[in-house]
Amino acid sequence: MTIPLKSIPGENGLPVFGHVFRFIKNCNHLFDEMHEKYGSVYYNNFLSTKAIHLLSPDGNEFVLLDRDKNFSSRKAWNKSLEKLFPNGLMLRDGDEHRYHRRLMGAPFKAHALESYVESMNPDITSTMAGWGLQKDFHFYPAIKDLTLSLASKIFIGETLSNEAGKVNTAFVDVVDASMVVVRYPMFGNKYQKGLEGRAFLEQYFGSRVEGKQQSSDTDMFAEISRAQSDDGQGFSKQDIIDHIIFLMMAAHDTTTSSLSSVCFALAKNLEWQDKIRAEINAHGSDTLNYSQMPDFDAAGLVLKEALRLYPPLPTIPRAAIKDCEFEGYEIKKGEQVFVSPYFTHRMADIWSEPNKFDPERFNKERAEDKNHKHAWIPFGGGAHKCLGIKFAELQVKLILFHLLKNYQIDVEPGYEMPYSPAPIGKPSDLLPLKLTAI
Ligand code: HEM
Repeated sequence: MTIPLKSIPGENGLPVFGHVFRFIKNCNHLFDEMHEKYGSVYYNNFLSTKAIHLLSPDGNEFVLLDRDKNFSSRKAWNKSLEKLFPNGLMLRDGDEHRYHRRLMGAPFKAHALESYVESMNPDITSTMAGWGLQKDFHFYPAIKDLTLSLASKIFIGETLSNEAGKVNTAFVDVVDASMVVVRYPMFGNKYQKGLEGRAFLEQYFGSRVEGKQQSSDTDMFAEISRAQSDDGQGFSKQDIIDHIIFLMMAAHDTTTSSLSSVCFALAKNLEWQDKIRAEINAHGSDTLNYSQMPDFDAAGLVLKEALRLYPPLPTIPRAAIKDCEFEGYEIKKGEQVFVSPYFTHRMADIWSEPNKFDPERFNKERAEDKNHKHAWIPFGGGAHKCLGIKFAELQVKLILFHLLKNYQIDVEPGYEMPYSPAPIGKPSDLLPLKLTAI
């Protein structure tokens, strides 16, 4: 006898908007309330779309590993990103995705990462020198500018020339447009600016592909332009354009978000600044190279903990491409399913004192993240697991190295960073951290 599947419990919330405002205002409260009412499988509504949430690590595994090929990443992400980042790696599925992902490996190999680290050192030092002198310093815009100018150099091989300035503006417009609620171009609104930015970037990269293919440049654009499979096939020109524009987006706001939460946490927990600084002093040099990164153990623990508390992607979407079931609940073809790094990262049965900043929970002895293979998922998992994990870690460690070597980071007593979760987690103020030269 087959046991009938259960319908997923939940609620719609407001007409049309559903729970979208509640999610943006305080995703923590919303998750907790829904979890208490309905358990770890429930539905709600976001902008007239039914959203099924699986909150447990088993749910993460079911969706992200997707052993039965129930889900599409493309169909889910296309809803918000199709016009701005069409055919980026995350917006592809199945064999096509696997093929493209393999070809995109080149810019993430050790020798490439080594050269990025080397070229980032001087730019970070010179940009940061001015930070301590600014009267009205705010950390979020400062770090966003820094990661963007590093991205121009590492991703497309441009320094801050006029042309790179235009690329940056177009790129910022495209990313901003991916964050808006009204996805309809009109009267020069953000979405329209984003589409214009996309058109500019297409033309900019398109006119440079051949040159990059023939160059010996070491930036990511050049590496992707020259990438070849074992049988000598490379990407088409359009693929190259789509991949490089997507890569810049995937890297930029996520790293900015991570550095913001890392530095906020360090301002509140001065003993961790001391621990990282002790490693910097033991290193005894003004620059840091790729092979020295593993020595920065404390910075690695702090990054992991900041990504646990403030994951840049608080939820990860998929679209069901066939009827399927999870723990006896029925999921129908076409429905949107979300897993939630944010909620899983604060589950009391996985993490001790989950709301406390405690990087040592990731040390070898405690290893709380090993309580379940899918308990800590800031980078996702399965076929679409982030391709830039290593790069992100190197960049965060390098920036911390220069920042803590030169400054003490403080914050007004009682300040708590307001976290805005959508579409990429970030402080909803400008993050007023204070830097004092040491
Ligand atoms: C701390 C920083 C970062 C975080 C938290 C992060 C998070 C994520 C997550 C959660 C996914 C999976 C999305 C899904 O399954 O739908 C993803 C995918 C991806 N990320 Fe990252 N990311 C970060 C930095 C970067 C950087 C620096 C790069 C590139 C240099 C990058 C490139 C990518 C790419 C290409 C994908 C798509 C992979 C695929 O679909 O096969 N990410 N990232």
